[in-house]
Amino acid sequence: MDNTQLIKLAQEAAKKAYAPYSGFNVGAALLCKSGNVYTGCNVENSSYGASNCAERTAVFKAVSEGERDFVKIAIVSEKGGLTFPCGICRQVLSEFMPNGRIVLYSDEQGIKEFALNELLPYAFKL
Ligand code: THU
Repeated sequence: MDNTQLIKLAQEAAKKAYAPYSGFNVGAALLCKSGNVYTGCNVENSSYGASNCAERTAVFKAVSEGERDFVKIAIVSEKGGLTFPCGICRQVLSEFMPNGRIVLYSDEQGIKEFALNELLPYAFKL
């Protein structure tokens, strides 16, 4: 699965975002070592703190289906500009893909790829 295909899946997932409070629709597509891909969108709540980011939706879908090893995740928003994962999502991703890659896309900047450990050096570990 190449980056362009993964980004397309993330864009499809963003269409399903439930974000009536922020209006910021995000989609993610997570490639596992198995070759399976899990998508996710952000799901907001009127109690704002109960909201979930697109990345964690994808991670929790994957883990709940038995996946443990991830390769990379594509993240897009419908607002334009690159959408970097928030700090909580970086930490959650580091649990299952410490050496994984983060693939971002915007119309203006095209595809940008980062190592997760560039975005989250010294991740917390027990
Ligand atoms: N959001 C994500 O889904 N992923 C990110 O990487 C950043 C933020 C969501 C959370 C909330 O629903 C909305 O974007 C605005 O913060």
